[in-house]
Amino acid sequence: MTKPIDVPTSVDEYFTRTLLPEDAVLTEVLQRSDQAGLPREAVSPVQGMWLHIQTLALRARRVLEIGTLGGYSTICMARALPKDGLIVTLEAKEAHSQVARANFELAGVQDRVEIRLGRAVDSLDSLIQEGASPFDLVFIDADKPNNPRYLERVLQLVRPGSLIIADNVVRDGEVAEPESTDPKVQGVREYLAQVGRNPRLRTSALQTVGCKGYDGFAISVVAEGGERTKR
Ligand code: SAH
Ligand code: DHB
Ligand code: MG
Repeated sequence: MTKPIDVPTSVDEYFTRTLLPEDAVLTEVLQRSDQAGLPREAVSPVQGMWLHIQTLALRARRVLEIGTLGGYSTICMARALPKDGLIVTLEAKEAHSQVARANFELAGVQDRVEIRLGRAVDSLDSLIQEGASPFDLVFIDADKPNNPRYLERVLQLVRPGSLIIADNVVRDGEVAEPESTDPKVQGVREYLAQVGRNPRLRTSALQTVGCKGYDGFAISVVAEGGERTKR
């Protein structure tokens, strides 16, 4: 049997060729991540550009990322920051952080990136304890069962107008199955329930297809003036 042509992947490749500049740095970042045996879970090139655009459009100066891996998404966002901007990226695995650190040097963004090694819940608690200035953009992309715990903490680290983006909220459509026994799906469902009922947030979610399969992003904005009133 011949493999069916994966149309969304072909379109993703077409978009990448047509819309994105050749990027020797990001290509090398992925090669090094593969060589180091990291899982292939970075955002796609087109998604990385989407994060870059969000960062630029927000004129973000401070970004918080939960889940560094090899630093692909970090670099996409760091490149949109001003020289004195900062992205704090949280990673539990030392080996991942080492690959990421080398990749930040390769990309020349090392001065704008701070890696915090450790469990993200602990790193978030430290940031809160330290009275960290609010982040303009937060990208949540680590272990999905902890998403509800990340959100509780992230809400203490943002200001009105900040964006909170969460990756992988569709999971091949399993997110719509209340009975799913996958703890990742349940983590995402609880996260979505929390953002959906929080009067400080306006939230949407976009389903995506492409080289990463069928998945999606949730995007929330922290309301100006505190309360959400109308849709
Ligand atoms: N944002 C990256 C992909 C992140 S993959 C990109 O798009 O390029 C998820 C990462 O979260 C992995 O590196 C994993 O080690 C890390 N992670 C998983 N559980 C974690 C935890 N409890 N605390 C911090 N990082 C964690
Ligand atoms: C998985 C995690 C991710 O962050 C991702 O983008 C793709 C897959 C996973 O845990 O399977
Ligand atoms: Mg992800």
